[in-house]
Amino acid sequence: MRKNIVAGNWKMNTDLADTQELIGGLKSIAKTSDAEIIIAPPFTNLYSAFEALKGSGIEVAAQNMHQSTSGAFTGEISASMLKGVGVKTVILGHSERRAYFEEKEDLLAEKVNTALENDIKVIYCFGEELKDRNFSEHFEVVNKQISQALFHLDADAWKHIILAYEPVWAIGTGETASPDQAQEMHAFIRKTIADEYSQEVADSVTVLYGGSVKPANAKEIFSKPDVDGGLIGGASLKAEDFMAIVNAF
Ligand code: G3H
Repeated sequence: MRKNIVAGNWKMNTDLADTQELIGGLKSIAKTSDAEIIIAPPFTNLYSAFEALKGSGIEVAAQNMHQSTSGAFTGEISASMLKGVGVKTVILGHSERRAYFEEKEDLLAEKVNTALENDIKVIYCFGEELKDRNFSEHFEVVNKQISQALFHLDADAWKHIILAYEPVWAIGTGETASPDQAQEMHAFIRKTIADEYSQEVADSVTVLYGGSVKPANAKEIFSKPDVDGGLIGGASLKAEDFMAIVNAF
């Protein structure tokens, strides 16, 4: 049985004080759904978040990671550094990393390998741009983003992979994919994995939707059979909104 997960990507928001305040808010609101919760604060707040969340059941993820294990890479963060501060999951391939830092599938495949070799689970993000959808190339684009970064993995490795479909045109824009558009793509993603591996692998992988998920639309999106949760940006910065999304299951 695959898991329902709601993950909050705080992006480059929150200083140390904000982080403690937001975590205090999250802990004060009861979880009434079965969804697992992950939050991804900026690197500088990971350790304090990990400490503050001990015993809460909420896990901490990083928003990125370098593909090398150590070395002369000024300003970068390695897998073992993340592990050392309690991180069990890393977000890789977010569209903002792809757009602003030119991260492509070959690099992302390396990062995925390094994460898995260090026992860090991966939330692998991908999704088409508006032009791709307008040219009806969204399935092709998503197929390439998944296959080129992940299809070198063996079936067993998929136990440590979470997918996050985030259509770029829906990120931070207030425009959400309709629940039917999300379901259509999630079903395609699962079929793509079933064709390459097996139905068993496809059925066991958690596939999140991301892009302007809010308390008002979460329930309908999460009600779709192939949508197993969300990767939440803006709405993860308010404890009440984020927990309302968690409790939308
Ligand atoms: O990682 C999260 C996504 O980029 C979604 O962001 O909820 O602000 O649209 P958003």
